[in-house]
Amino acid sequence: MAGNEEALAAVILAAGAGSRMRSALPKVLHPVGGEPMIAHVLALAREAGAARIVVVVGHGGEEVARRLPDLLPEGAAAASGEAGALPGAGGHGAPGAAAPARPEIVWQHERRGTGHAVAMAAPLLADFPGDVLVLYGDTPLIRPETVRSMQDARRAGHAVVVLGFHAAEPGDYGRLVRGADGTLERIVEARDATAEERAIPLCNSGVVLARARLLFDLLSTLDDDNAAGEIYLTDIVAAARARGESAAVVLCPEAETLGVNTRADLARAEAAFQARRRRALLEAGVTLVAPETVFLARDSEIAADVVIEPFVVIGPGVKIGPGVHLHSFSRLEGCTIGSGATIGPHARLRPGTRIAAGARVGNFVEIKNAEIGEGAKVNHLSYVGDASVGEAANIGAGTITCNYDGVMKHRTEIGPRAFIGSNTALVAPVRVGAEAMTGSGSVVTEDVPDGALAIARARQVTKPGFARRLMARLGAMRARCEKAAGRE
Ligand code: UD1
Ligand code: MG
Repeated sequence: MAGNEEALAAVILAAGAGSRMRSALPKVLHPVGGEPMIAHVLALAREAGAARIVVVVGHGGEEVARRLPDLLPEGAAAASGEAGALPGAGGHGAPGAAAPARPEIVWQHERRGTGHAVAMAAPLLADFPGDVLVLYGDTPLIRPETVRSMQDARRAGHAVVVLGFHAAEPGDYGRLVRGADGTLERIVEARDATAEERAIPLCNSGVVLARARLLFDLLSTLDDDNAAGEIYLTDIVAAARARGESAAVVLCPEAETLGVNTRADLARAEAAFQARRRRALLEAGVTLVAPETVFLARDSEIAADVVIEPFVVIGPGVKIGPGVHLHSFSRLEGCTIGSGATIGPHARLRPGTRIAAGARVGNFVEIKNAEIGEGAKVNHLSYVGDASVGEAANIGAGTITCNYDGVMKHRTEIGPRAFIGSNTALVAPVRVGAEAMTGSGSVVTEDVPDGALAIARARQVTKPGFARRLMARLGAMRARCEKAAGRE
C-alpha cells in the first residue's frame, strides 16, 4: 500500500441525547477516571495515529464543541488552528510522531441512525486518502492494541474491519454473520434478525475500520428500510460484499465494548477503567497497599517503587518519580513529584505543583501552582500557592501564602534553606531570601533579605502575678452573684 493509504481519520459519534443519564451534562462529557469519556476516545484516535478527527455532535453539541479544545491530550495544543490541514501526516502506529489532529465538529441535527451519523462526516472525509475508524463518544474502554489488530486486518487486505465480541447476553446487539471461511458477510440488527440469527453469540461493538472512499460511497447507497427506520452503519458490510470487497471481524473482550447509557453503566465503566489501570501499575512495580481504594487517571505516569497507601486519588496530569511514598487520603492533580519525595497523609496537590526530589509534604497541606525545591519540607497545615520554595527550605506548621488580594494572584518566593516560622502569613508579592528566617506568627509584607530574620508581630508583654489576681477577682465576683440569686 502507498504511504497515503495508511493515513487514518477517526469519526467519533457523539450525537446521542443520553436521556437515560438524566443529566444536564451531555453524556460524552461525563467523566471516567476524572476526564470526560470523549477525552478517552480522542486519546485512542490519536494513539492510533489519526491525522484527522471528526466528532459528530447533536444533542448538547454546543457544550461538547466548547469543551473539545480543553480535552486535547498533552502536547496536542501545539497543532494550532490548522484543522483538517494534516491529511496523511499521521502515519500508522506513530503516536506523537506527527502533529496531533485537532477535532473537527460536524452536526447531525436529526437522529436518523448510525449510518446517517457517520455520513455527516462525508463533506470532510469523503476524499480522505486512507482509512476511517468509527468510534463512539460513550464507549471509552477500547484499547489501542485492539485498534492495532483492526489495522493489521486492514493491511491483510480486508476493505472493512468490524470489531466484534462474544456477548454474555447478546440481547439487542447486532449479530455478526460469518461465512464458512470466517470472513464477515453481513451484520443483522437484533430487531431485524430471525430466531436463528439471534442465536449467534458473536456481536457487533459498532467500531468499524474501512477505506474512507469505500465507506462514504457505500453509505450514500443505504436506505432506512428496516425495523428501526434508520440508516444503519452496519449495512455497509453486506454492501461491500456485494461489490466483491472483503470484510473481516476482529475480536476483543466484551469489557472493552462497554457503552455508557445510564449512571449505572458509568459506574461500571469507572470500575473497569480503574481495575485496568491498577493492574497495569502493579505489573509496572508500583505498590498499591489496597488497590481497590486507589483511583487513577488515563495519563497517570507512576514510576517503579512508588508506594501508594489506601485511599489516594490521582487526577489527570500527574507524574510521579521512583520511590515516592504517597500516604493515605491524599489527592493529586496536574502535578509532578520527584524521586523519593513523600506526600501526605491528607495532602492536596493542585495543578501546577512541582515537588522536587526528596521533598516532604505533610498532613493537611495544600499546594497549588508552586515549586517545592529539593529536600524542602512543608510538613503541617500549610497553604502554598503561586510560590517557589528553594531547596532544603523549611516551611513551619500553619504557614500561609496570602496569594490572592481579591482581584489578582501574586507570587511568593522563598529562597534555599530559608526557615519560615510556624504560623507565618506571607503576603504576596513577597520574597524571603536564601537562609533567611521569619519569626513564628509573623505577617510578612516586605521582602526579607538573604540571611536576615524578620519578625512581624506584636512584642510580648508579661505581667508578673497578674493571672492569679485576675482569677481570684473573677471567682469572688461569681460567688457574689450566686449569693444574690439564692436570696431571691
Ligand atoms: C448499534 C449497532 C449494533 C451494535 C451496537 C453496539 C447499528 C445500526 N447498530 O446499535 O449493531 O451491536 O450499536 O452498541 O449501528 N448515534 C448517533 N446518531 C444516530 C444514531 C446513533 O450519533 O443517529 C450514536 C449514539 O449516540 C450511540 C451510537 O451512535 O453513541 C450507537 O447508537 P445506538 O442507537 O445506541 O445503536 P444501537 O441500536 O445500540
Ligand atoms: Mg446502543
